[in-house]
Amino acid sequence: MITPKKTFLIGLFLLIAGGWYTGAGASPALVKEKQCNTCHRFSNSEAEKSAPDLFYAGNKFQKKWLESFLKQPETIRLAGHTHDPGFLKGVPEYAGPHPALNSKEAQQMTNHLMSLKIPKELPLLELPVLSKGTRVRVKILFERDYSCIACHQSYNLARQPRGGVSGPSLIDAGRRLRPEWVYQWLKNPQQFITQGKMPLYKFDEETLRKMTQYIMSHKKDPKSK
Ligand code: HEC
Ligand code: HEC
Repeated sequence: MITPKKTFLIGLFLLIAGGWYTGAGASPALVKEKQCNTCHRFSNSEAEKSAPDLFYAGNKFQKKWLESFLKQPETIRLAGHTHDPGFLKGVPEYAGPHPALNSKEAQQMTNHLMSLKIPKELPLLELPVLSKGTRVRVKILFERDYSCIACHQSYNLARQPRGGVSGPSLIDAGRRLRPEWVYQWLKNPQQFITQGKMPLYKFDEETLRKMTQYIMSHKKDPKSK
């Protein structure tokens, strides 16, 4: 006989099993189904692939941005990814458009990607608030002293994007990237990438934090949190 208690337990079971299924459990299957793994690496034990690595997506991306990107992908690397055989030859082999997911799939995939981390959670950061004067000085470092702008798009004083295209665009970095990841990337990119095309810099701790904060201040919609 099915008692109310049993009904409750069965309901509870289905609720938990259902939650599991739509959460982390379903997504490795979704990765295969959507063939994300033909272009991206989901583990660093795989051989290099042509698109950016995702095995540290949980360290790198802000969840909200990631979910909106998966539904409505945008171009971040205007000259293609550095591992694309046509990189900088004017004709990246991969020219998009990037596959898009529906809302439910994007939610599942986001949960899965946010669970992928190396080596573990990155230490959280206290970043300095940049005064107007400091911001100008960091902008000069970014544009002149270190020539970051030769490879990365950022904003000019009129808030127009400008800059080189061989590196990922930074114009929405403040919504897209996690500050603790940007800090670690600037400190030691080799934690994440073995054959990078970006010069290695030796920043002192203060410059490192200011540069991270400067990058995090880049947002397409400056009012967004
Ligand atoms: C045909 C190859 C291909 C497939 C299939 C593909 N991607 Fe991508 N993906 C790319 C390329 C190339 C980029 C870089 C685009 C850019 O920077 O403009 C990219 C960018 C991304 C990014 C942003 C990464 C970053 O570091 O900026 C995420 C997240 C992502 N893809 C997830 C996925 C997921 C999830 C799937 C499966 C639903 C998928 N991709 C399928 C080629 C692919
Ligand atoms: C010679 C070109 C070049 C210069 C100069 C350069 N970068 Fe990069 N940067 C790249 C490339 C290319 C990547 C992508 C990683 C790769 O494939 O090597 C990258 C990645 C990044 C990323 C991670 C972005 C992402 O979405 O993955 C940040 C942040 C960054 N650079 C900031 C800077 C800063 C700050 C400077 C100056 C201090 C700088 N870069 C100078 C080429 C450059």
